[in-house]
Amino acid sequence: MPIKTIKDHFSSNPLKNHFENNSLKEHFSSNHLKNHWTYFFQDNMENKVLEQFYDYGGLEFRRFSWKDLDECAQLFKSVFSTDPWYDEWISLDQVKNYLKELIENPVFEGFVVCENSNVVAVCLGHRRSGWMGKEFFVDEFFVENRRQGGGIGTKTLNFVGKILFNEGYTRLTLLTNKGIFAESFYLKNGFYNNEKRTIMVKEF
Ligand SMILES: CC(C)(COP(=O)(O)OP(=O)(O)OC[C@H]1O[C@@H](n2cnc3c(N)ncnc32)[C@H](O)[C@@H]1OP(=O)(O)O)[C@@H](O)C(=O)NCCC(=O)NCCS
Repeated sequence: MPIKTIKDHFSSNPLKNHFENNSLKEHFSSNHLKNHWTYFFQDNMENKVLEQFYDYGGLEFRRFSWKDLDECAQLFKSVFSTDPWYDEWISLDQVKNYLKELIENPVFEGFVVCENSNVVAVCLGHRRSGWMGKEFFVDEFFVENRRQGGGIGTKTLNFVGKILFNEGYTRLTLLTNKGIFAESFYLKNGFYNNEKRTIMVKEF
């Protein structure tokens, strides 16, 4: 990749701008909310320290762990089987296989949001290290059908961004379809379309 392209790619930093400008930065770092962070949970993946956060609406934000797999797979299947995706997953096992492949990636990072102990939002992705820093590629992001449009997606993105920003990530990137709600959701949340990039596919 030419240096100029890489510079263009990194010249704007929406994640940094988002957290520097966003009032949630103060919101999360206020003394009151700091008391709600729980540290020192040992995850069985990479022995990572888990950060947990509870909001006033009773949502629990935390890192993904393997015990979440079944629930995430069911949620994934129900969300992406409906409007606007209408994916036709042949079985729940196939969904689990797909998610396992993401999770077994050595640079995987995942986050879940629970309400009354039920998973209502999920963000699964992986690290991409470049010579100018590391970015987080969002492989899957979804909110339970009945809870969409209520702000959970925005809160989840803010939680994930806060953790990744503190860990030195400089940006989030993802692929989505043009013209669907997800695109406007991401635009509202500080993402921009990179007009210089295209997706290329060769089918066998
Ligand atoms: C896309 C998705 C993750 C967004 O999460 P969400 O919790 O529904 O989003 P929010 O409620 O935080 O919405 C944020 C903004 O979008 C607006 N919005 C919410 N629902 C909307 C809808 N159905 N149509 C248009 N705008 C909508 C909200 O008004 C809000 O903006 P505002 O705060 O300025 O009013 C979620 O809808 C989802 O899981 N969709 C199906 C799966 C999917 O498409 N995932 C993304 C694949 S890349």
